[in-house]
Order: sequence, then C-alpha cells, then structure tokens
Amino acid sequence: MNIDGKRYRTIWPDPQNKSTVCIIDQRKLPHEFVIEQLASVEQTIVAIKDMHVRGAGLIGATAGFGMYLASLQAPDDHFADFMKESGDRLNRSRPTARNLKWAIDRVLKAMAEADHPEEKRAVAFSTACTIADEDAEFCKRLGFHGLEIIKQISRKKNNGTVNILTHCNAGWLAFVDYGSATAPIYAARDAGIDIHVWVDETRPWNQGAKLTTWELQQENIANTLITDNAGGHLMQHGMVDIVIVGTDRTTHTGDVANKIGTYLKALAAHDNNIPFYVALPSSTFDWTLDNGIEIPIEQRSGEEIKTISGVDENGKIVTVELTTRKTRASNYSFDVTPARLVTGLITERGIVKAEREAIHQLFPECGTSIE
Ligand code: MRU
Repeated sequence: MNIDGKRYRTIWPDPQNKSTVCIIDQRKLPHEFVIEQLASVEQTIVAIKDMHVRGAGLIGATAGFGMYLASLQAPDDHFADFMKESGDRLNRSRPTARNLKWAIDRVLKAMAEADHPEEKRAVAFSTACTIADEDAEFCKRLGFHGLEIIKQISRKKNNGTVNILTHCNAGWLAFVDYGSATAPIYAARDAGIDIHVWVDETRPWNQGAKLTTWELQQENIANTLITDNAGGHLMQHGMVDIVIVGTDRTTHTGDVANKIGTYLKALAAHDNNIPFYVALPSSTFDWTLDNGIEIPIEQRSGEEIKTISGVDENGKIVTVELTTRKTRASNYSFDVTPARLVTGLITERGIVKAEREAIHQLFPECGTSIE
C-alpha cells in the first residue's frame, strides 16, 4: 500500500542486512512513521506483545520472521531445543490471533524437513518470506471476492454511495498488504464504485481512529471517524449498507473472535437487516475449536483505558491520564460474534456461509495445515 505515494509492506527482510527484519512501529502512527529493525526473537516477542506490530495476519508474518531470527541465534548443538523453546515463547506473546501459532508451526514443520542447522536457517527464512507473500496474495484475493458484494449493493442503489462500516483496523497495517476488511474496499475503489467508510474509533487502543483513518486517507478513500457507540444509530437511520470486519480467530464452525465491540455491531446489524461480513485469510481459521466461546480472549492492561495518547501543540507524542489513578479498569480486548449473526465469510477461495459444512467444503484439507 502507499504511504505518501511510496509503496510499502508492513514487514520485510532488511535488504542491507540479512540478519534483521524491518517493521513499521504502529504505536507511533499516524503522527510519526518510524521503521524499526528486529534482530532477535526477544525483540520480536516485545514487538508483538507491546503492539509495535498488531493485527492477525501481521502477527503471524512477524512470528514467521521471529522464528527465522531465532534460528540465527540457535546454537548448532542445541538447535531443535532452542527453536522449540523460541516457538513456545513467541506463541505466548499474544493469545487470541490464530495466525501466530499457525506461522510458528509452519516454520517448525518446514525446518524439520531439512538436515543441518545451516539448511534449517535457510528454510526458516524462505518459509517466513512465503508466509508474508502468501498473506499479501490471499488478502488481495479477499478483495476480488468481496468486491462482488459491494458491486451488488452499488447496483441496488443505482450507483449511489455504498456506506461501509468497519471496526478496529483490519487494513493493510494488520496484514502484510491490502488488509482483510479493507481489501474489498480498495477493490471497489479500483472498480470505480462510489464508497464511503464509517470507521469505529475502537477504544481503548484506537486502531480505527489512529490507523484505519490514516490508511484510508493515504489511499484517498472517503471515510468518517465515529465513536464506538454510534454504529447502531447510523444503522437505524439507513446510513450503513454493509458491515465488513476482520477477525483474529474464526472457528471452523463460523464463530468469529474480533476486536472488542464487534459483537455489538453484529447485533445491531442483525436487528437492522444489514449484511455483516467477516473477511479472513484461511490462516485465521482455528480447525480445533467447535465453539467460539472457548477462544482465549486477551486481557490487556487497564492502563490502556485509563490513559490516552496523541500529539501536543509541539507535535510531540504524549500520553495523558483520563481517570484518577485509583480507578479500576478491566480491558477485555476481543469478543466473539456467533456464526448466526455473520452473513458470510470472505476468504481467499470465495465467500462462504459461517457454517461448519460450508467451511469444510471450501477447505477440504482442513484439520491438517493449510499450505
Ligand atoms: O489488538 P489488535 O490490534 O492486534 O487487534 C486486531 C485487530 O485489529 C482486529 O480485531 C482486526 O479486526 C482483526 S485482525 C485482522
């Protein structure tokens, strides 16, 4: 995607130094664009845990490169143990996004086929690059399939503006490129469809306010920031044609874990007969869980709710307190939208009902890894 007209991905191996990986530090956006270098698995864990990088697809891609960096640190005589332990530590960095474990397992599996540590390191690198390339390619395909839904709405409205509501950031910053929920939006723009995006601010980390609006601005897509509580009102007044969100983990039965507040949007959409779509590359499916309520839900520090950051009059990023210090706050970061509230899942292979049979039909190899 473009930043000031220049094309970027969200993660890439450093072309000058093969033992480092570059990321965009998302904590500083939209005010500062800072590229950070990762040189070890420890730095990768911090980057995921403290959300320098975030979003399911990008967490997976970063974990893939984290495994490569771990392989460079691994001593030849304890290679397998070191890699297993690094994978376990990376896997604990954030609990909800399925792509994390998926990417770690994929690198471990690929390395197991190679004989010597040096060969395994090369395999770790190529597998991490493949995970990143595939993430970008799959998101692009989500756009192709999701476009059909937006086209239909546009036709029904006699080419009038299609109003799309999205929650959090399931844009290119949450993946390697294109994004999941945003891929159909970019495809619709390219197809000349008149679109406008309502962006939920997404408290407390404000991914919508800080990241999604910025991303869409960079791509010249009309968008308006709204409070997290405004969606229901807009839906009641016919101001939303479709909701498209991302997901951090989707069960093979169609239940969807996404950023906290998604469930309430799905309820409001259902009550107002508004289609509610979830866009995901298949790396986000959890083929082991039948019931979304079993998905581990991350609880982050209450400090994220009690404080807010932005720039001061000198353009410096500052954090200020919203509450008294003794205020108790709990910060559930994700919720689960049951399959019955989901109109359809937009995947790289096409649009599918949020139902076990349909999902298994589209991904017949499920239960083993999707490669
Ligand atoms: O806590 P985050 O920012 O890593 O959460 C992820 C998200 O941005 C969303 O829930 C998103 O809609 C799904 S990730 C593609």
